[in-house]
Amino acid sequence: MGNCSGAEVKTESPSHIGFASGSNSKHGSKKGTVLSGSSRRVSASSVPLTPRSEGEILSSSTSKSFTFSELRTATRNFRPDSVLGEGGFGAVFKGWIDEHSFAAAKPGTGLVIAVKKLNPESFQGHREWLTEVSYLSQLSHPNLVKLIGYCLEDEQRLLVYEFMPRGSLENHLFRSEELVLSSLSWSLRMKIALGAARGLAFLHSDKAKVIFRDFKTSNVLLDSTYNAKLSDFGLAKDGPSGSKSHVSTRVMGTYGYAAPEYLSTGHLTAKSDVYSFGVVLVELLTGQRAIDKSRPSEEHNLVEWAKPHLASNRRVIRIMDSRLQGRYSVAGAQKTAGLALQCLSMQAKRRPSMDQVVIALEQLQDAADMERTPKTEPRSSGRGGSGRAHNMPRRKISVDVGNAKVARPRLAASPLNA
Ligand SMILES: Nc1ncnc2c1ncn2[C@@H]1O[C@H](COP(=O)(O)OP(=O)(O)OP(=O)(O)O)[C@@H](O)[C@H]1O
Ligand SMILES: [Mg+2]
Repeated sequence: MGNCSGAEVKTESPSHIGFASGSNSKHGSKKGTVLSGSSRRVSASSVPLTPRSEGEILSSSTSKSFTFSELRTATRNFRPDSVLGEGGFGAVFKGWIDEHSFAAAKPGTGLVIAVKKLNPESFQGHREWLTEVSYLSQLSHPNLVKLIGYCLEDEQRLLVYEFMPRGSLENHLFRSEELVLSSLSWSLRMKIALGAARGLAFLHSDKAKVIFRDFKTSNVLLDSTYNAKLSDFGLAKDGPSGSKSHVSTRVMGTYGYAAPEYLSTGHLTAKSDVYSFGVVLVELLTGQRAIDKSRPSEEHNLVEWAKPHLASNRRVIRIMDSRLQGRYSVAGAQKTAGLALQCLSMQAKRRPSMDQVVIALEQLQDAADMERTPKTEPRSSGRGGSGRAHNMPRRKISVDVGNAKVARPRLAASPLNA
């Protein structure tokens, strides 16, 4: 398990990864690796300056190196009924290991783990796998998911994480309406927002200086008491060094979450993450997806549609998630909308820092009118509250949410200017 504390500084830059030795480029990549001919924006500064070889990264990693056979046993041969979910990297399986020796354990005993197994046919690949091992082995914080270990054996690439019993925020916010018995309460939404904000603030701090680059609801995982932890560091980048104001990179990420200036220039800053955080705040307020092509065209993009509502204390009430049934702090929702609006500022400099976001959210945690029921039910906007989130136009994947198998459309990371 990664053992550096939040106070420790990583000593080498995980973005300085050499891909020559042992890189398995044939897997290609959906995110993080340049697909030939698919982008014109590959800048010199995205080339590693002081390459670290794969061997150096893995040997300096504090995570355990598992054999494939150990993980096969721990997951009972990657049994289909132990699949926790599936992303661009491949499927994620539940497994069990002994908490001391890390040897495979009987199901239901020892330490529960989540094993992400790279699908050799997936678009994502070795580069993201290595980036993730590199960052998560060096960074440790209560709001970052823990990497327990990894496996690199022949064609196999796996990652072993602490198990997050409540899955992803995406599953909770956008799961199929018929199966929702009780949706996330307002106070849980605020708790999750604060936890995720703390994770990003840590990454941006001088201790870490990392830009996450793929902040979205599917990369926010929840423990049994809804503490939020960021996962998926395959696209993470070291922040600018010295007097540089930004990092120039190929534009990667997920549509609907990427900051406009990053999309148009490839200039990446911590404020790009702040923008993505603003998008997730709007998703938490409205219960609607960042991009939903099943909506009328002017409503495809949640932020574009919601912005005028967020700016008005009166109108913001109309776009609140109808599944909250009016049980939220009106003042808290209005302030959250104001905060989201600042995060979504078109000018990156006008966005708050994640430290400022954390302070604002801390103040909102114990709003006096938290979860009171307004006298009148909120009026539904044309967009239809959470109804938007449950039209599922795209490829459906079965995922585990608590005990319920549900279907959801994918919103995956990819090159954004291909
Ligand atoms: N540590 C974990 N504990 C429990 N469930 C997990 C864990 N990691 C991932 N999952 C589950 O597996 C699903 C797939 O995760 P994964 O990170 O592979 O893809 P994604 O984030 O949904 O998409 P993308 O590939 O675009 O990042 C998640 O939605 C989550 O429900
Ligand atoms: Mg993920």
